[in-house]
Amino acid sequence: MSGAAARETVSTFTTVPVPLGDRAYDILVGRGLLVEAGARIAALKARAVVIVTDAHVGPLYAEALAGSLRASGLNASVLTLPPGEATKSYARLEQVCDAILAAKIERGDLVIALGGGVIGDLSGFAAAIVRRGVRFVQMPTTLLSQVDSSVGGKTGINSPLGKNLVGAFHQPSLVLSDTALLDSLPLREMRAGYAEVVKYGLIDDEAFFSWCEKNWRGVFAGGPERDEAVAQSCCAKAAVVVRDEHENGDRALLNLGHTFGHALERITAYDSTRLVHGEGVAIGMTLAFRFSAALGLCPQADADRVEAHLVEVGLPTRLDQVPGGCGTPDELLDAMAQDKKVSGGALTFILAKGIGKSFIAKGVEAEKVRAFLVEQLQAR
Ligand code: GLY
Repeated sequence: MSGAAARETVSTFTTVPVPLGDRAYDILVGRGLLVEAGARIAALKARAVVIVTDAHVGPLYAEALAGSLRASGLNASVLTLPPGEATKSYARLEQVCDAILAAKIERGDLVIALGGGVIGDLSGFAAAIVRRGVRFVQMPTTLLSQVDSSVGGKTGINSPLGKNLVGAFHQPSLVLSDTALLDSLPLREMRAGYAEVVKYGLIDDEAFFSWCEKNWRGVFAGGPERDEAVAQSCCAKAAVVVRDEHENGDRALLNLGHTFGHALERITAYDSTRLVHGEGVAIGMTLAFRFSAALGLCPQADADRVEAHLVEVGLPTRLDQVPGGCGTPDELLDAMAQDKKVSGGALTFILAKGIGKSFIAKGVEAEKVRAFLVEQLQAR
């Protein structure tokens, strides 16, 4: 598989290095990392830690983590927040910052984000701004956060004006991805995270996409294929982040499927009973490949193959699968135009010349997108 950073498997854990100079860190992937967390985190030489978690994850894992940290001589306190996207708010940011200060966390100490993307983004942002920056460790507990949001240092909260509009780049000091924690993840969330796994193959690694087609059942079942998928995804993301940490270029490739996907999330009012992020990305990636085929850039057979795999794992791929409807072509275009990746009225898409051959397409004419959406909505 191409485009990946180096990695090393020692005992049951795989280490994926993220070589970012003085912000370099390791991602550890494997079953059973939670009970080893104390020793791994103590090696970072902190004195005190605050664990930030939510009311779904905390009761399952926070005490085991705090016990492991205390056994390694660290002073650990726990802050438990409500689950859900609404927690990525100014009010919760204030709460997390004050909890970090109340725990007397100094520059050398640590914040630990134990949870999915919401907890990781919020805690990472709080760590970025308290005392002008304290260190933090990501312990992602969903497939989506293990393969995407815990890696690369994007942190932030939502504003009433839009998602992720307030934030900072702040790299973690360590990422511990215990793949056994995914055993309790609902199937719908596994599928949604898996869409981001597939994305890495579609961007620049056809061999990894083929591997996914053959091995996805093992990923869902928790076999060694799951560790392989998480480690390979982290390698792929690390390689992009090392090339373009602040998204001035190549990092935008990670947004494959996201221009359509974000528009669908906006139209469904971020209501997770209707659509979760990974489902929007699955529909978005299928549309990106179909749009590429319609523009004559990509073989139709590749677009069909992408859709067939996503359908096989149970992900939605069509606009008419959005519960409650996806709006009109103009509403979809309007939702895309509000996306922060739009500049000067032109739409930026990640399009593809084939599986593993994605590229950044700037200045895509809105009228071509509109005609494509009209055709898609009439197709069934
Ligand atoms: N999730 C996309 C990125 O981290 O750039």
